[in-house]
Amino acid sequence: MKLVTAVVRPERVQQVKEALFQAGISGITLSRVSGHGGEQSVVEHYRGTRVMVEFRDKVEVRMAVSEPFVQAAIDAICKGARTGEVGDGKIFVQPMERVIRIRTGEEDTAALTPVTETKLSPDQP
Ligand SMILES: Nc1ncnc2c1ncn2[C@@H]1O[C@H](COP(=O)(O)OP(=O)(O)OP(=O)(O)O)[C@@H](O)[C@H]1O
Ligand SMILES: [Mg+2]
Repeated sequence: MKLVTAVVRPERVQQVKEALFQAGISGITLSRVSGHGGEQSVVEHYRGTRVMVEFRDKVEVRMAVSEPFVQAAIDAICKGARTGEVGDGKIFVQPMERVIRIRTGEEDTAALTPVTETKLSPDQP
């Protein structure tokens, strides 16, 4: 199991979500974040040279996936998020030790398998 975390442009989130759903990945957490990609702009200042670091609005997309879905998640994120311009974002893949579905106590891959529609009650998101 891996935790796949991507930082993407806010305007590409819809495409990323669609690509992930098409790849069969539907357990996703989105957060608005502020990020910096490492580049620095040098600004001349009257007392010397200052280095400016600009932070930009980004969206962090996180999903815990079982091994067969790791590459599919990466491909889907790239497909949805890539414009080809600087600042398209990054994907981080981390090992994940345990996952627990609170309702049932199911663990790991069983906890990552989505509940099918028929098992959902009408008020479930
Ligand atoms: N090394 C990093 N650690 C943590 N977050 C990062 C890192 N690199 C990038 N990010 C996050 O990803 C966002 C987008 O980064 P960005 O796309 O600029 O990466 P990049 O490696 O500079 O690629 P590019 O050359 O396309 O600009 C950043 O605003 C930041 O939130
Ligand atoms: Mg960058």
